[in-house]
Amino acid sequence: MSNQLPEVRLFQPLLGDEELAAVKAAFDRSWVGLGGEVSAFEKEFEDYFGAAAALGVNSGTAALQLAVEAFGFPEGKKVLVNDLTFVASATCILINRLVPVLVDCDPVTLGMDLDDAARKVDSDTVAMVVVHYGGHPAPMDRVMEFARRHDLKVIEDCAHCIGGDYQGRKLGTWGDVGCFSFEEKKGMTTGDGGMMVSADRELIERMRPHRWVGIDKDTWRRRDSYTDTGDLDTKHWHYEVAVLGYKYNMNDLAASIGRVQLRKLAAMNETKRRAIQRYLGHLRACPDMVPLLPYEADRGAYWLFGVRVADRDGVIRHLKQRRISTGVHYMPLHAHPLFERYNAAVPNSAAIWPTVLTLPLHARLTDAEVDRVGCALVDRNA
Ligand SMILES: Cc1ncc(COP(=O)(O)O)c(C=O)c1O
Repeated sequence: MSNQLPEVRLFQPLLGDEELAAVKAAFDRSWVGLGGEVSAFEKEFEDYFGAAAALGVNSGTAALQLAVEAFGFPEGKKVLVNDLTFVASATCILINRLVPVLVDCDPVTLGMDLDDAARKVDSDTVAMVVVHYGGHPAPMDRVMEFARRHDLKVIEDCAHCIGGDYQGRKLGTWGDVGCFSFEEKKGMTTGDGGMMVSADRELIERMRPHRWVGIDKDTWRRRDSYTDTGDLDTKHWHYEVAVLGYKYNMNDLAASIGRVQLRKLAAMNETKRRAIQRYLGHLRACPDMVPLLPYEADRGAYWLFGVRVADRDGVIRHLKQRRISTGVHYMPLHAHPLFERYNAAVPNSAAIWPTVLTLPLHARLTDAEVDRVGCALVDRNA
């Protein structure tokens, strides 16, 4: 029907000349692996978050995995996690030989339902992975109070909420560790990448070798000593491996992009807020659907904009014919075969997920594109 129309993409990174110049500078330095750019990005991340330390890795998944590992929980202990989330929020638990306990979603915010968490926590529970679903902040004052009461570590999964806050305090700095994703669809990107932040410098330093095959010194930090004519120590090449590590480091190409993206973050979040406000106007004329989340469109750092609609397939088809991309975030954990054996009662998540539909939202989305999507939804109701 409308094959001539340009597509409206669901997600799209906002990358331009500044990022290209930063990558070129890394080429010109001829150092593209783990190096000074990663350290500089970590430092800027620490400053942005007012965190004691940050650790750059090659994905949000790696950040979550190292964050859970950092506490050295005994095998078989339990970790609470949102049921309605991306699988990486919970594979980090399984990979660390722990047991995920799937917690239902709050029917309004779609974040973790703390009443359900209270029903499921027991004496074997050691931590919780709290997802700020779609960018809507979890109520971190209540989360932290719950965690303290049950002596749980808190890992914030901030893949959706970079730049957001709760009660004026940045998301990612409430819990013991905050984990971010810079995958290409996220609020800021490095292609792929991730970061851990924490107020506990010792925890981050302890995990540093784990992202670099267990090696106790970063190669680039040793580099100058290779040709240091003032120091003829012949052991400049020496390092030791005392811990079992992964090859999870961020590299300088990614970090050079990330440093520029961090400077653009506030503006990118603002563009998305404006798009959300515009969408909400259109939705008022669509009686068969409601906004996915209780959007605070004048503040928030949202990753997802979407609706809840009974006839999801009908809307998908209608938009597809108009070259408008849609998505579903998410088929919940309990519906994946990997998590079948951890299935628990999650009635809200089970009832709501078949109605959730993600619409295009990104920092390149134009008013005209939002109106194209909005008018298509309104037309369907006409
Ligand atoms: C909630 C959530 N957690 C973790 C991740 C993993 O991030 P990455 O793709 O950078 O590994 C994602 C992203 O895809 C996500 O949506």
